[in-house]
Amino acid sequence: MKVAEIIQSADWKAEKHVPVLDAPDSVKAGEKFTVQAMVGKEIAHPNTTEHHIRWIRIYFKPDGGKFAYDVAFAEFSAHGEAVEGPNKGPVYTEPSLQAALKLSTSGTLLAVSYCNIHGLWEFAKPIKVEA
Ligand code: FE2
Repeated sequence: MKVAEIIQSADWKAEKHVPVLDAPDSVKAGEKFTVQAMVGKEIAHPNTTEHHIRWIRIYFKPDGGKFAYDVAFAEFSAHGEAVEGPNKGPVYTEPSLQAALKLSTSGTLLAVSYCNIHGLWEFAKPIKVEA
């Protein structure tokens, strides 16, 4: 068994769990840009005490490189928990992560998300770096 065997992927327009990455198709080397990873971009994922997205992590894998680099992580901690009971709480964290990056080489941005009952999901987006 490998982790890759249990990470699911699907068309993000039809599947609510996919952590869609919004980033430019190309950037200038060393220039700051924003990347956002979001679950539920097209179809909202539930956000309840019983069923929610716990976290999203972003990696970068440079073209020609062997290893992934860990880029950003966000944990979504509030899902309506309260002393009054499930879904009675005053706050829900929505599954959206934004980070500012600078790259020196082209590669692929990868996002992995975790739903507390539907497991791991992934998304990939190539990004080109111009000198
Ligand atoms: Fe789910």
